[in-house]
Amino acid sequence: MAKLWRGVLTEYADLLPANLTHNIVTLQEGGTPLIEARAIAEQIGNGVSVWLKFEGANPTGSFKDRGMTAAITDAKNAGSQAVVCASTGNTSASAAAYSAQAGLTCSVLVPQGKIAMGKLAQAIAHNAKVIQIDGNFDDCLVLARKLAENYLVTLVNSINPARMQGQKTAAFEIVDQLGRFPDIHCIPVGNAGNITAYWMGFQEYCRKTHLDTDTVVTTGTATAADAPSKSPALVGYLNGRGVGVTISRTNASDSDTATDHTANAGSTANDTSVVTEIHSATGTVAAPTAMWGFQAEGAAPLVDGYIFEHPETIASAIRIGNPARAEDALAAVSESQGLLDKVSDTEILAAQKLISNTTGVFCEPASAASIAGLLKSAKKGLVPANATITATLTGHGLKDPSFALQDSTGAALKPIEAPNYLTRVATLLGL
Ligand code: F0G
Repeated sequence: MAKLWRGVLTEYADLLPANLTHNIVTLQEGGTPLIEARAIAEQIGNGVSVWLKFEGANPTGSFKDRGMTAAITDAKNAGSQAVVCASTGNTSASAAAYSAQAGLTCSVLVPQGKIAMGKLAQAIAHNAKVIQIDGNFDDCLVLARKLAENYLVTLVNSINPARMQGQKTAAFEIVDQLGRFPDIHCIPVGNAGNITAYWMGFQEYCRKTHLDTDTVVTTGTATAADAPSKSPALVGYLNGRGVGVTISRTNASDSDTATDHTANAGSTANDTSVVTEIHSATGTVAAPTAMWGFQAEGAAPLVDGYIFEHPETIASAIRIGNPARAEDALAAVSESQGLLDKVSDTEILAAQKLISNTTGVFCEPASAASIAGLLKSAKKGLVPANATITATLTGHGLKDPSFALQDSTGAALKPIEAPNYLTRVATLLGL
C-alpha cells in the first residue's frame, strides 16, 4: 500500500517543538509536488535546472496551511478559543479552514475591496467573521495585533512563532524531493514570513543532515565574480546593525581539507570551480542555499529601503508596504548570500503565463514573482552555470483567475463561440 501523507507536523515531528506534535489540527497539508520546469530552465540556459514547489496543492490552495496547522494546533493546546489575523486573502482562507476543523472562532481583517474573490469565498465558506477594513493590509495588521494584545484572541499572522515552525517544513520537503540542497531558492516576499521560515528550514535541515561536521560546502562552476550583488537596502541594513557575513572562497584544488556534503557534489567540479563555505553572522555554518526574494515594484519596501504607505500591485497577496518580518528576511538574504529584487506587474503576469503555458501549473500572480525574479536575475547574468534552482509557487491560480483571463494589454481572453455543428467546430479548431 502507498504511504499516506499525514501532514507536516507528523511527518517532521522530530524537527518541531513538542507543543506542536500532539493533538494536531491538520488537513494533511504539505507533501506538495516539486515539478521540473524544463522550458524555463532552457530559457535561462547555461545548464541550470529549475524546480517548482507548487504550494497551491495544499488543502486551502496556498502555503499558509503549513503554518496554520501549527498555529491552530498551538492555539488549541494553549486553551485559546478564538483566533484573529490580518490578511491579503490566503492567511484568512487558511485560518478559517483550520479554525473550522478545530472548533475555534476565527476573525479576519482584510483590506476592503483588495482581496481576490476566491480567497474571500473561502473565509466566508468556513464561517470566519470577515471584517473589511477601510485601509490596507498594514493597517489591518496593526489592528489585529492590538486585538490580540487587548482581548482574549490569539494572533495567527506569521509573527506567531508557530507559523514559522510549520512553514519551515517546505524547505525540508524540497531537500527530500531533490536529494540535495538547491543552490538557489526563489520566493515571493510580502510580509516576509515565508522567506524567514524557508531559511530557518534549510539551516535546520542542514544541521540535522550534516550533524557530523561543522563545515558545509557547495561546489559549482561559478566564480566569485558571479556572486549576487546585495540590494542597497540590504547593505544599509547590514551597516546599520554592524552585521556581516564571511565568505571564504577557495579553488577546487584547495578543497582537499573541506568535506563535501551535497548529494551530487563534485559532479560539476573542475578547475574553474570554486568551493564556498558560508558562515552566518553568528559564526554558525549556514545551509548552502542562497535565498532570492522578490517583491512587486509597487510594494518593495525591503528592496527600496523604505516603508510604502500606499503599496500597489496586481499581485494582491503581496501588496504590503511594511513587512512584519523585515529584519528576519534581510538576515536570511544576507546570511545565505542571497539577493532581494523587485519585479514589475508586467513581468509577474508574463511569468504567470509562461508557467501556465509550459509546465501545466496554474499559480496566482503573487506566486509568479519568484519566476519573474529568476528570469530578471538571469538576464542580469546573476545565475551561475549549472545551478539547481527551486522556486516556491505560493498559491493556486484558481484563487484569483481574473488576470489569466486577460492578455498583456488587458483585453479579455474569451472562449470562441460556435454552433453545435461538427464541421464548423473542426474548422475552428484547425483540424
Ligand atoms: N504569495 C502568496 C500567494 C501570499 O498569499 C503571500 C502572503 C505571499 C506570497 C508572501 O508571503 O507574507 O510570508 O512574505 N500572503 C499573506 C496573506 C500576507 O495574508 O495571505 P510572506
